[in-house]
Amino acid sequence: GAAVEVDVSGIQPGEKLVVEWRGKPVWILRRTPEQLESLKAVEPQLADPNSDRTAYPTPEYAKNTHRSIKPEYLVAVGICTHLGCSPGDKLTPGPQPSLPDDWKGGFLCACHGSTFDVAGRVFKNKPAPDNLEIPPHHYLSDTTLLVG
Ligand code: FES
Repeated sequence: GAAVEVDVSGIQPGEKLVVEWRGKPVWILRRTPEQLESLKAVEPQLADPNSDRTAYPTPEYAKNTHRSIKPEYLVAVGICTHLGCSPGDKLTPGPQPSLPDDWKGGFLCACHGSTFDVAGRVFKNKPAPDNLEIPPHHYLSDTTLLVG
């Protein structure tokens, strides 16, 4: 499949851009400093905090807390690892229906209630077994991303 070139320079902190790669939605989320800080705090609640599972192998360069090359930018396939719905955004911290009161932001799959943090890591005891897939990608320049 053809690789997709993306200019990430226009994405504002907290914003998500969606591009299509091999027929799948790929999310590019530019995380705020607060969102990055939340990643360590939620780790005890995650099913696979270090992305060790291999159903959707995480590339070596994304096997870190932020699951990305550049901490600011998450690049992930926006398809739930349960039955393939596309999770919506619940990026705003604070109490919301079906989310814990201490929710730090992330993604909620409305189909069966799986929740993911802002690095696409799935929370424990949810139907989705795996973290969101990280597609192969690299940077051609400071602001140009190549997915695929
Ligand atoms: Fe997402 Fe079932 S498809 S929780």
